[in-house]
Amino acid sequence: MEEMTMEKMTNLCKQYGYIYQGSEIYGGLANTWDYGPLGAKLKNNVKDAWRNFYIRRRMNAYEIDADILMNPKVWVASGHVASFNDPLIDCKSCKTRHRADNLIEAFDSNAHADSMSEDEMVAYIKEHNIPCPKCGKSDFTGIREFNLMFETNRGVIKDDKSIVYLRPENAQGEYVNYLNVKRTTRSNLPFSIGQVGKAFRNEITPGNFTFRTIEFEQMEYQTFCKPGTDEEIYDFYKEYAKRFFISLGLPEVKLRYHDHEKLAHYAKMASDIEYEFPFGWGEINGTHNRTDYDLTQHEKYSGEKMVYTEPETNEKYIPYIIESTIGVDRLVLALLFNAYREEELENGETREVMEFIPTIAPYKVGILPLIKKVHSEKAKELYEELTKYFDCIYDDGGSIGKRYRRCDVMGVPFVITIDDDTINNNTVTIRDRDTMEQITINISDLVKYIEDKLRVY
Ligand code: GAP
Repeated sequence: MEEMTMEKMTNLCKQYGYIYQGSEIYGGLANTWDYGPLGAKLKNNVKDAWRNFYIRRRMNAYEIDADILMNPKVWVASGHVASFNDPLIDCKSCKTRHRADNLIEAFDSNAHADSMSEDEMVAYIKEHNIPCPKCGKSDFTGIREFNLMFETNRGVIKDDKSIVYLRPENAQGEYVNYLNVKRTTRSNLPFSIGQVGKAFRNEITPGNFTFRTIEFEQMEYQTFCKPGTDEEIYDFYKEYAKRFFISLGLPEVKLRYHDHEKLAHYAKMASDIEYEFPFGWGEINGTHNRTDYDLTQHEKYSGEKMVYTEPETNEKYIPYIIESTIGVDRLVLALLFNAYREEELENGETREVMEFIPTIAPYKVGILPLIKKVHSEKAKELYEELTKYFDCIYDDGGSIGKRYRRCDVMGVPFVITIDDDTINNNTVTIRDRDTMEQITINISDLVKYIEDKLRVY
């Protein structure tokens, strides 16, 4: 069997409607992608699974939905205006611009350029003669810092005062609402605020499909806690993220931790979880011990007091924050790679199948009338009934074998065939996507059968 490459995955996604090139009819826009009918459902299911794992199943955890545009002072306080930069270098030969850290990590995915200084990165590129991805020569300028935030203007007059930023991370929406959430939920520490939402970064390097894009979604989660309890909570969420990935079907051997040596300005401890993509290991999650940095900064810049008073002891302090962040698009990409399987059937045909766990599969049930003219009325009746409970797909076009193949590549875990027995005896056959085994079952038992299979706990 051929190896699943990034190129092959991009084509499969385009062909079946998982992901299309952004603005494709205009020739696209670099590093933008649009989710199609299957991709949008898959992504929503992943976000729902996150809500389940991080909000519903945690005590004192609340989801908010903050605006993308925020008071620009937020980004001064957070440090993004001053230091949310990428180290860029230009190829002297063909004049293309690259991220020095990406060049190094593409050359050796174990190199971890994020722990190198600018001088070390330049020296590493020279020493290993790393070539320009465009022209192949190795002749670069020094490093220049480039701010990644997208700016836009609000109001009618375009000047410095009208600048607002498209948020480069969700986290600040959660920090500026710390006091609101604490007050309205009457929470004591520790409590958590999570959010699922878009973030924007002016990434200039090619992105490996949806791995690095300029608009992407994050599932971010901040736990506000008492200093001194932070390390235990940090360890907990570092592990919790891994458990979440495993619960979605990612195998442990394809996941690894990367503890940061060089830390961001706000962090005391930081660790990523990386997934082994075809291009190498890539970060899908970060756990950060952000200390009291963020709330202290917001107190300083907003003038609002962020001090927490212990209800029993009256002890006062600014809470520490443990952040657990996951990139939705990167996780979906990992799940796409992980789900793909290609196998040769007895008749010599190749079967492509997406083995998503049923909870995240875009459609749970496929409904196929065996013979369109004879069985479609009954099949449509069943479709109407089952769509009250599950996402179903109805397909009456082409041979039954072709329709099974289409359902396989859409990752439909249960495919029901309607035939004469359905009309005469009220029974259907259900085919299991992964084993291709079929069982016969009474229509009245269908909902329970599928619900049982979808239950996660
Ligand atoms: N609030 C902390 C924060 O934003 P980050 O490591 O910069 O930390 C968090 O980003 C997650 O967002 C990453 O682990 C990654 O999954 C995702 N992410 C970051 N930049 C991305 C990009 N350009 N395209 C797609 N996903 C991205």
